[in-house]
Amino acid sequence: MYKEEKYRTILEATDEELKYLRDKALNDRWKPIYHVHPQYGLLNDPNGLAYYNGYYHLFHQWYPFGSIHGMKHWAHLKSKNLVEWTREDVALIPTESYESHGAYSGTAIEIDGDLFLYYTGNVKYDKERRNANQCLAIMDNNGKVVKYKDNPLIEGVPKGYTGHVRDPKVFKIKDYYYMLLGAQREDLTGAIIVYKSKDGFQWDICGELHISNFDNDFGYMWECPDYLNIDGKDILVFSPQGIEPDGENYKNLFNVVYVLGNLDIDNLEFTVESFHEFENGFDFYATQSFKGREKQMLLLAWAGLGEFKYPTDKNMWTHCLTFPRELSLKNNKIIQKPAKELELLRDEKKSEKGICNRFFKVENFNNTYELDINLDRKSSNIFGVNLVSSSEEKLVLEFNKESCIVTLDRSNMKNIFVEEYGSVRKSKLHINQNIKIKVLMDNSIAEIFINDGDVVFTTRIFPLKESTGIEIFSDDLIDFHYDKYTLKRGILD
Ligand code: FRU
Repeated sequence: MYKEEKYRTILEATDEELKYLRDKALNDRWKPIYHVHPQYGLLNDPNGLAYYNGYYHLFHQWYPFGSIHGMKHWAHLKSKNLVEWTREDVALIPTESYESHGAYSGTAIEIDGDLFLYYTGNVKYDKERRNANQCLAIMDNNGKVVKYKDNPLIEGVPKGYTGHVRDPKVFKIKDYYYMLLGAQREDLTGAIIVYKSKDGFQWDICGELHISNFDNDFGYMWECPDYLNIDGKDILVFSPQGIEPDGENYKNLFNVVYVLGNLDIDNLEFTVESFHEFENGFDFYATQSFKGREKQMLLLAWAGLGEFKYPTDKNMWTHCLTFPRELSLKNNKIIQKPAKELELLRDEKKSEKGICNRFFKVENFNNTYELDINLDRKSSNIFGVNLVSSSEEKLVLEFNKESCIVTLDRSNMKNIFVEEYGSVRKSKLHINQNIKIKVLMDNSIAEIFINDGDVVFTTRIFPLKESTGIEIFSDDLIDFHYDKYTLKRGILD
């Protein structure tokens, strides 16, 4: 079997090795306190998200032995309320031949009282050649996870596709379960394949999903397909690789897009009404949606992408997830807001109102907060907020009334990373008199929601210790009003 050092499971580690990793990562001041992150090692996609048996269950791709992409396990966290998480035993350790090079991403669905975890067993023959098996593990209501005895459910890939077929999304429509798989055709274009099952065990291929009015040649691989329905509208979300930037869109190495319309699953036909980039920021990929306790539509993403180097790599941990977002539809577009459970983390509140004459400094002393700022621009044309600022650096969020452009600029930060894809992201916005901004800041991640989630930017940032400033700026007078909450810790290390 093809073996490299990075294809080792946690069962092969010594206690000293794990203690070394834990200690090394423990006191990194860039670790978030309320965004899910790995205790040590590398996190990527959210997996198996579910509200099941009175708890939220969150799994994520995890490589334990440092900051590289190697043997992927499924780490597991559990929460009553979506914000206070406990770390549970590792849910999937890839010990079997059908998953010899990792338990890759997948989703969860409750079937007959158990939580079915569908995932991809990744198999590598050498550095280049690979295969994929679709697998199942079942978690019972005591939290015990057991791999299905007759795995894999689907052995290998269908004809016409390369070994890149993965990330099962399973859902039920009427009497059948359906599985969407992200895939690469043999002509090296991306696609989604559909399977069907009566019982969740026995799967038959239906074929490729046809997405009408959509370019057949849109990137070389589609990862993490997701299907959801909001207010009767069908939505397909996926993470295509290999699409070119288009103006201010698709500027990241990999991107997330969604199509909105109607899914006719019997005819494998998705009729597209509109098509959008999912997010406007830098570090956002591999989204997964799920229904919460009140059937609200929630979504998490990996706040990262690709295989870049990040400033925390040297401390043997990398990446975090976004905060859970609640999705709704407005004007045929997805609106994203932080899940309302965020309020449970609120600690001290400070509010202030005033007039900014070119520059106003908000009192602040750490970078773990929620900030709601409303700006009434009066006669100002260019205005905005500097975050994580000090005399050395700042993250700039700037609005331009004339061009109706909002810009997030991280080029003034001292710790630069993934700079080959640019340090500025822009988006078009209706800039009227008032702008509403919500910032979730958590040591090394900022999520910025503008005008109630119309535009959203996710960015990682690695500020200097002294960079805790928040400043309002304008080219003329503006009125401001803000509420700032310090936030409590949601996840222990
Ligand atoms: C997306 C992805 C998935 C795959 C997983 C492996 O980031 O490449 O397609 O299942 O990560 O960790």
